[in-house]
Amino acid sequence: MTRQKITTAALREMKLQRERIVALTAYDHLVAQLLDQAGTDVVLVGDSVATVMQGRNATVAVTMDQMVYHCELASRAVQRAFLIADMPFLSYQVSIEDALRNAGRLLKEGGAEAVKLEGGVAFAPTVARLYAAGIPVMGHVGLTPQSIHQFGSYKARGVEPGEAQQILDDAKSLEQAGAFGLVVEKVPAELGKRITESVQIPVIGIGAGPHCDGQILVTHDMLGMFTRFRPRFVRRYLELARTIGDAIAQYGSDVRKGSFPNSDESY
Ligand code: KIV
Repeated sequence: MTRQKITTAALREMKLQRERIVALTAYDHLVAQLLDQAGTDVVLVGDSVATVMQGRNATVAVTMDQMVYHCELASRAVQRAFLIADMPFLSYQVSIEDALRNAGRLLKEGGAEAVKLEGGVAFAPTVARLYAAGIPVMGHVGLTPQSIHQFGSYKARGVEPGEAQQILDDAKSLEQAGAFGLVVEKVPAELGKRITESVQIPVIGIGAGPHCDGQILVTHDMLGMFTRFRPRFVRRYLELARTIGDAIAQYGSDVRKGSFPNSDESY
């Protein structure tokens, strides 16, 4: 990969040039390094760490300290990609001062280059304050998993015209407040297209159709490593859970029958 370090300006230029943005998640050094070296443009330390790595049913429980920890691991590996960290539930909803302090921690201690937060119009003042402090913010609209207990399900959002208009208004208000980009999750492809065409900032879709400026998936989903549930928008490029299971079973069999280690593997 010859492209220079990805920045917010580079992401905006990619939108202008209609060059699709490639984004994936990482929660640790090894995966972040694999993504960066394979030319991924954006690495997100997502609060999906709660479901993928902590075995939880929702993202609500993950803490600021945990996000800082995972971000710090990833940040030491990422050289070219733009590194964004999720602000976890209640790290930005209580007050704008809290949001500023916590976003600052993700940059100062975690090594993130930007933060992402969920929510629309109601969070525009928070985005504006972070922007004023020099912290790049990515918005996240559509399905916002931190509000799962309010929604009651992970079904697609913006199917009804009223909700679709609200999501579009959310996207525009975040742009006006200074967000450098947006994640749009699980909305009809037509709404993904409308949002992408209505804002000047890059729109990264996840289950939001093919017209967005870029796409993001949870890495452990697309590698077939996380198999507890599988949204329709996930395309699996590997079946790693099966491959790893087979390798572990083979190792167990080798140990049990005494064929591991052999003389080459011994001193
Ligand atoms: O937490 C996460 O991984 C995310 C992406 C799925 C967009 O927010």
